[in-house]
Amino acid sequence: MTNNAGHIRLGVNIDHVATLRNARGGGLPDPVRAALLAQEAGADGITAHLREDRRHIIDSDIDRLMETLTVPLNFEMAATDEMQKIALRHKPHAVCLVPEKREERTTEGGLDVVREENKLAHYIAPLREAGCRVSIFIAADARQIAAAHRIGAEVIELHTGAYCDADAEGRTDDRDRELEMIREMSAHAHSLGLEVHAGHGLNYDTVTPVAALPEVMELNIGHFLIGEAVFRGLGPALHEMRRLMDAARA
Ligand code: PXP
Repeated sequence: MTNNAGHIRLGVNIDHVATLRNARGGGLPDPVRAALLAQEAGADGITAHLREDRRHIIDSDIDRLMETLTVPLNFEMAATDEMQKIALRHKPHAVCLVPEKREERTTEGGLDVVREENKLAHYIAPLREAGCRVSIFIAADARQIAAAHRIGAEVIELHTGAYCDADAEGRTDDRDRELEMIREMSAHAHSLGLEVHAGHGLNYDTVTPVAALPEVMELNIGHFLIGEAVFRGLGPALHEMRRLMDAARA
């Protein structure tokens, strides 16, 4: 597999437009409108997480995203039977498996593929047969990467939350150590033939060193961009992120 250090994709996560909508009930603000705006502003993909409790994105949002988007949908979900049925009905471009319950996650926050290896191997097989690219959201940990590779995932998304938290809290040693793990594990996963994505908690301060990693092909960014959109509008917020990512890559 070759990497594409010249271009890094930006996936925009619109979950928190739905959070705002659901705070009031009713239909506004509409996350699908945000997705279409993000697409128009240059997003390479849209990410939406249908949670079991439907706390932000709801089923009809996924229906409408599938009907209207022209860029790929990255459908985030927990590895449950209900979500598998929904994914198989829609066949989105990508399915990203994420932990929702405490017992599914590692201490660093990613999905514990090592513990669930057999179950996940069976779980993702029909999704792959349906043509979805299966991505697994994991910590930058060699054992988790090896397990994701063994079960046949095509993509891993490395969890950048610990790196971003350390940066926000001024713990610079921790931040640098987390970044080093992300750097090493991106190269390692790429050498196994996995496509590497990254995300969670990224903002204008933290995006550059991650976007600079040549093996990282896609960043998925939501909460910060939606917050920033309140102040400068979604298009300009996204353009600034795109500019920083391109500059990091140059
Ligand atoms: N990637 C994955 C797998 C996620 O679960 C999330 C959060 O829903 C994100 C990226 C985006 O994180 P944030 O909203 O903090 O940018």
